[in-house]
Amino acid sequence: MREAVRLRRAIRPIAVLAVVLTTVSAPLVVPLAAREREPSSVYADRRAHLVAQLNAPVLLFGYTGRENSSPSYVFLQEPNFYYLTGHNEEGAALLLVPSGAAEKGWKGPNEIFFLPLRSPEEEKWNGPRMAPTDADVQKKTGFATVEAFSNLKAHLADLAQSYHEIWTLTSHADDTGYPHAREWSAWITQAAPGIVMHDTLPAIGAMRQIKSPGEIALLTKAIELSVDAQLAAMRMVQPGLYEYQVAARMVEIHAYGGCETEAYAPIVGTGLHSTILHFNELDALIQDGDVVLMDVGGQYSGYTADITRTVPASGHFTARQREIYEIVLGAQNAVLAAMKPGATLGRQGANSLFKIAYDYINSHGADRDGHNLGRYFTHGLGHHIGLEVHDAGDANRPLEPGMLVTAEPGIYIPEEKIGVRIEDDVLITPTGYKLLTARLPRSVDEIEKIMSAAKVARDERSSER
Ligand code: GLY
Repeated sequence: MREAVRLRRAIRPIAVLAVVLTTVSAPLVVPLAAREREPSSVYADRRAHLVAQLNAPVLLFGYTGRENSSPSYVFLQEPNFYYLTGHNEEGAALLLVPSGAAEKGWKGPNEIFFLPLRSPEEEKWNGPRMAPTDADVQKKTGFATVEAFSNLKAHLADLAQSYHEIWTLTSHADDTGYPHAREWSAWITQAAPGIVMHDTLPAIGAMRQIKSPGEIALLTKAIELSVDAQLAAMRMVQPGLYEYQVAARMVEIHAYGGCETEAYAPIVGTGLHSTILHFNELDALIQDGDVVLMDVGGQYSGYTADITRTVPASGHFTARQREIYEIVLGAQNAVLAAMKPGATLGRQGANSLFKIAYDYINSHGADRDGHNLGRYFTHGLGHHIGLEVHDAGDANRPLEPGMLVTAEPGIYIPEEKIGVRIEDDVLITPTGYKLLTARLPRSVDEIEKIMSAAKVARDERSSER
């Protein structure tokens, strides 16, 4: 094992202890059982549904743990692999074979799950891992056939006698980060020269867009913890704090409640920074008269929340801030009223939710030069959330029951140092929608009331000292 990985594994318990020590006295939500998994039958049904759509074997690889060598890296599974297996350890692979394979001469089972052999040396650093030789490995993984990863090449060569095509994750020109798909596509080519690879991501992505009841439950837990964090931030924001202090409190609430990580780098921007869509340097002091935009979400058992609130640093919006805020809120309410099966997140088409938000923003208020405000709505209306914060699948697919998306209009006017985004997480139902973030106030009056009560409590505490 490489030194950087050893170091990372060795320091992890220290980092966890540090989090625990800083939180024990905090009156936070009841911690959830971290890292829940759906029943094995759910993952099995997904695999059956996927392979039934395809005419050739499916071969997917989990992450190896070598994708990131940073000392702060903690392993999280490749999301498509996790979606089909619920397995969150390094070095696994999945082979699915269509039901007609036996007629083509395939003598093996229709599903094989591959795991690395046990390594006592690695386990000294990483703790126990599942291995194909474990007596209860079928029960733990939910697969009837679990074999050593080293058997995979021979199975692939055997299948290549009958199949000239295979479905896997293929690389794309716009791939960023570690080239997982490219690396494993090269491995397949080497193991089965001449086999034609097709990309299975569109089929898996389409499935991932419709959430199972178990996924909705996990997403709800991520969202609830993120709502708690947003409420705590609303109560805390005041001039004289740094952006990073607000983010730190929110991250603490996620982690203490059982989130394994943040869904994305926390965005807390005060004043001009509120107009920078993904501002994450978090280095500025909050000043009286600023608005503070907080786009922060936790990831619970693999599933991501994504929530934004914008609040006045002093506890009261100025007249202009209030005007802009209420235009964004009006746009969001107009979008919510149209959120139902058949609506689309994209910019075009008769059912476009983006167009509803844009038209609302562009027909209310004006900038200092009298121009309409549509030009200051500089991003999309929303996206799917799930195992990734911008979840897989066709972003323009009409909404269907079971989809879970964000609704996040915004106006960003740098010359006035006002950026406002209001972002909520919405489950599409057969007749409309359910606002999963409903517990988190959105109106000016509610936000000011919460901030004002928090200020009174702070003042009382400091006068008692
Ligand atoms: N909330 C971060 C993003 O959607 O990119």
